[in-house]
This record gives sequence, C-alpha cells and structure tokens, in this order.
Amino acid sequence: MKSAYGLTTPQENAELTHVEPGTPMGELLRRFWQPVALSAELTDLPKKIKIMCEELVVFRTKDGALGCLTPHCSHRGTSLEWGRIEKDGLRCCYHGWLYAPDGRVTEMSCETKEFCARANIQHPAYPIMEYGGLVFIYMGPPEKKPLFPLYDIIDTRERNDVELRGMQLWDGYGIGYVKDCNWLQHHENVVDPWHLLVLHQQISGDQFDGALMQGRSKIDFESTDLGVRYRVIKDLPNGNRLVRYAEVVMPNIILVPNIHEQGTVPKNKDRCTEITWTVPVDNEHLTAFSIVAWPLVDGKPVDDWMPGTDVRIKVRPAGQGERTYEERQRNPDDREAQEGQRPIAIHALERLAPSDRGVVMLRRQLKEQIQIVKDGNDPMNIVRDEGANTRIRTNAWNTVLSPEQATKHQGEEA
Ligand code: FES
Ligand SMILES: [Fe+2]
Repeated sequence: MKSAYGLTTPQENAELTHVEPGTPMGELLRRFWQPVALSAELTDLPKKIKIMCEELVVFRTKDGALGCLTPHCSHRGTSLEWGRIEKDGLRCCYHGWLYAPDGRVTEMSCETKEFCARANIQHPAYPIMEYGGLVFIYMGPPEKKPLFPLYDIIDTRERNDVELRGMQLWDGYGIGYVKDCNWLQHHENVVDPWHLLVLHQQISGDQFDGALMQGRSKIDFESTDLGVRYRVIKDLPNGNRLVRYAEVVMPNIILVPNIHEQGTVPKNKDRCTEITWTVPVDNEHLTAFSIVAWPLVDGKPVDDWMPGTDVRIKVRPAGQGERTYEERQRNPDDREAQEGQRPIAIHALERLAPSDRGVVMLRRQLKEQIQIVKDGNDPMNIVRDEGANTRIRTNAWNTVLSPEQATKHQGEEA
C-alpha cells in the first residue's frame, strides 16, 4: 500500500490553465475575438460580464453602437452596470458622466462643458463587435487586433438555407453542463472520445440516443490545419459505418458534430451545426457561447429541430437541471467527471496513458502557440487577410457509409 500520509500537492500547470492578463495562456487567448454575450441581451440595460478574470460592462446605445468598458467610473468608481443607456453612450448613475462607446467621457452633468473638454478623459475600453447573434470583444494589444474569422459553418454570405443564432446551448454552462472548474480540463474533453465509451455508456448507461452508443469504436487522433481532431469509426449493428471527427480549433473553439446521429441514412461529411467557444470566466469557472446555423425551409426556421450538441434529451441527466447528490453519484455526467478533476486539474499528478493522446496533442499545440506569441508572432488561426477570410474549412463531421460504401472505401472515409 502506498500511504497517503504526508502527501503534498504540486502546483497546477499555471502556463496552460491561468488566464489573467499577462499570463501565457491569458495572452494567447487575448489575441482572439472572444464571445461575451448574446446580441439579444444588450437591450436598454448595460450588462456586467466577467471573462478571463476581468470584469467589464458591455452595452448598446440607443443609436445601436456597442461599447465595452472597464466597470468602475473614471470619476469616483461607481460601477457602470448601474448606468443609464442613452442615445449615444452610457451615463454613470452617480454624477452623470457620459461615456461614448469608445470610452471617451463626453459629458459631466455637474461640470461645465469647458471643464469636460479640457479634462479629455478616456476611460479604458475594448473593441467590440457582433456576429451571428453573439457579441465579441478583443482584449489583446490594440495593434494586433485580427479579423473575425469566418469559418465555413458560420459564413452564410453565399447561402440561404440557414440563419445564424447566437445561443448558450447549456444555460450558461460549457458543453455537457460543466461550469465550476478550469476551462482547459473542460476543453480537453472534446479530444477525449474514450470517455464516451466509459462515462456516458458503461458507467451511467447510454447517455446519448444514437449511433455513438452502438458498435465497437476504433479511435485515433491527428493534427489539422486548425488544431487537433479525433476520429471515431464505428461499425453499427445495422451494417452501416459511422466515421466521425470532432475538432478543437486553436485555441478555444470546439467543433462537435451531431451527437444524436442515428447512423441509419448514408451521408457524407455532415458538418457541425454550430461553432462553440469555451470561454474562461476566471481560473476556476467557465462558460460557452455558440453560433448555431439554424436550418431554414422556404426562408422560415425549422421548429422541430435541435442543434447537434443540444443535450436536452431524456437519456441525458446533464440537461435536466439540479440533481441530488445521490443521483449525481449513481449517474455521473460530464459535470461530475470534469469538475471532479479539482477546480484546476493538477497536471503533475496525472498519469497520462496512450488513450490520452488527444489531450497530449492539444496541450502541446497550446504550448507551441504560447511560445509563438511570446516570440512576437501571430499564433495559428489569426486571420488578417480579408480575401482569405471566406468559408475557412473546418474538419469535423459525421459520415455514414452504407455496407457497400464501407467495403469499397476499406472502411474509413467516403
Ligand atoms: S462616480 Fe461616476 S460620475 Fe461620479
Ligand atoms: Fe462528455
């Protein structure tokens, strides 16, 4: 027996897990536009948010311009979350300083115009934009601000069969209803298909309702031009073969194709219906935002349709709200597994095994990107060329092969 007496706990891997300003991972993530709210949430009240340990206030003026400011008023510090939205800015509730969306103080209710002009106060702010029903901010060095990347799933400029919807598919949690832990251990789950077979099948009974719970799995991993992906091949009881890829796009996007795929109808490269950002709130909490490409028929949204990673299905406990401690013990789900790794997983205590190859590849890529940023260069997936910002090809999908196709293609890909 190895006694637990006297054990000490090593430090967490701060380089990959901590996200405050100035930390290696925090600086990498700050090079990308990050989602912070649904467009629909910015109405006639400002919204206080927290992302990567920074509290901020985002708002939309009555004229429709977006702003993102540090929360405490430049006058005497009142939080701007209590402010009033006006035609062209956000007015602090305490003494009425008016902030333009870019942070300029344009009026001071208790002072003269001349004083206000002379003071020329610029309140700290971040660039902000919206796309596909989500609000994004850029928190990195101003001169490094990239374009918003138009991945194929969400570049709808030349198609009219979908509409984009900004959503939080798991009620403010990450995918699978995980929230109270470090963002990375949650993000890693996407390149850990082995847990599908154990947690979601052997331990808790089938927690998905389709082909993912059928047949034996052949699993492998590879780098892509955007990040890392796994491949799962399953020979289904109906004779068809499922070939499935899920991808992490550096640094914090996940692409998970339909988890409810039934495997009954042959199909080629059925791509994800949504793109999802795993967003660190701070070092011990996370959230997620998705842009869903919602199908249209005759220009109208299809009602009886569900995004591919929506888990509100009967067999899945995670989507059924609060559960008792006993229920969680008897039927653990992603939340129990990932939050159970500690608030921040301690990499120095892990014993990584061959099945963890996707996790190892993901961490290695993140370390490489951190180094690239430290060296003063752009990390991968930074887009600066407008011409190249068109339907950027993603690498995650479900393919279902008929028995004949599976034989013809030696079983792997159509
Ligand atoms: S504290 Fe905001 S205007 Fe005085
Ligand atoms: Fe899971």
